[in-house]
Amino acid sequence: MRIIVVAGARPNFVKVAPIMEAFKKHHGLSVTLVHTGQHYDDALSSAFFKDLAMPEADVYLGVGSGRHGEQTGKVLAAFEDVLSKRSIDIVMVVGDVNSTVACALTAAKCQIPVAHVEAGLRSFDRTIPEEVNRVVTDALADYLFTPSADADRNLIREGVPKERIYRVGNVMIDTLRRYEHDARARKIPSKFNLQPGGYAVCTLHRPSNVDSEQELRGVVRILEGLQGQCDVVFPIHPRTRKKLDEFGLIPSLHRFTRLHPIEPLGYLDFLGLLADAALVLTDSGGIQEETTALGVPCLTMRAHTERPVTVTQGTNVVVGTDPKVVLQVAGRALAGDWPRGAIPEGWDGCAAERIAQVICARTPTLAPREMDDEHVTALYGAIVPKDRMRDQR
Ligand code: UD1
Repeated sequence: MRIIVVAGARPNFVKVAPIMEAFKKHHGLSVTLVHTGQHYDDALSSAFFKDLAMPEADVYLGVGSGRHGEQTGKVLAAFEDVLSKRSIDIVMVVGDVNSTVACALTAAKCQIPVAHVEAGLRSFDRTIPEEVNRVVTDALADYLFTPSADADRNLIREGVPKERIYRVGNVMIDTLRRYEHDARARKIPSKFNLQPGGYAVCTLHRPSNVDSEQELRGVVRILEGLQGQCDVVFPIHPRTRKKLDEFGLIPSLHRFTRLHPIEPLGYLDFLGLLADAALVLTDSGGIQEETTALGVPCLTMRAHTERPVTVTQGTNVVVGTDPKVVLQVAGRALAGDWPRGAIPEGWDGCAAERIAQVICARTPTLAPREMDDEHVTALYGAIVPKDRMRDQR
């Protein structure tokens, strides 16, 4: 079976790494990794390939930055070219970035089955670009690999046939579990002269938080207040840096004595920093999940989340963007007044293997190379409904 796996932007690389690894263990899968080039900076792209021991991409589309239509359109055209030159059985896309929807759409138009990893997540707010990408990608997908039960319910509500939905768990947590030990061993807090448990980490890059001057000034007020309570490490995303620069806000950041504004970190360094943080302030989707997996308090600076299990079971609280509210809730977290959280089902480090099993089950000859029957049953039995397990095997 010939399969293309697509990655375009930073969060994609973290999801694709364990999938590539799992596919390697299966006979008969010929995998082509396509990097669209949506993210191209060292810090957002090659650093991740290196940290996650990913093979170099087989095909690099080099689309770069641009407005949504422009960027999505460039991926569409370039990826169509790739598909027209190859005979491909499945195109696998992950997450919700512009590259995800563009490649799903190209594949569907070329009548190639689409597999979507991290399907079914919904914020129910279509003003968010990623929400549009999620809805469209899921409408086109033939295999919908979900991380949680809420995602299954969303898809069923939207009319996706049940037999296309596979709840496999969370591939991002596969990567976290694999590298957590290495990341902690780097002792990143000490590189900033910080004590484990004695600092906050902040990451913000959503257009709704950083593109308007008013919102970004609010963010700066929050950073000012928070660094009054503890040290704050602030790895700055290129979009955010550009806007801080544009609105003349960089000098004020440097006036805050306990704020550490730094360049974006690679995967291992960032995970090492996250793991020992007292609290995390973010608008990222993936970081809401990573903090839940690590048991670290997370304040999500958005109006809602498409990852509700991080709130109902994990350590995430959606706080919005009002500086007064955010600082008050941060104070609670620093005082230790926070839910301990639990690890959601399927966030166990085996999600990518379950995906590989489902894909391979399409052709009975694709037996897993390193798994006995018991292991396969354990993987399926954990999450995929029993009746489906029988069909697949
Ligand atoms: C994208 C994803 C978002 C994801 C985020 C992670 C979409 C719609 N958004 O947002 O879901 O959470 O990646 O980072 O796909 N830039 C660079 N170097 C790069 C890439 C971008 O400097 O390597 C700058 C460019 O000025 C660019 C801006 O960052 O215009 C935004 O990049 P883009 O990929 O369009 O969106 P992100 O905000 O990174």
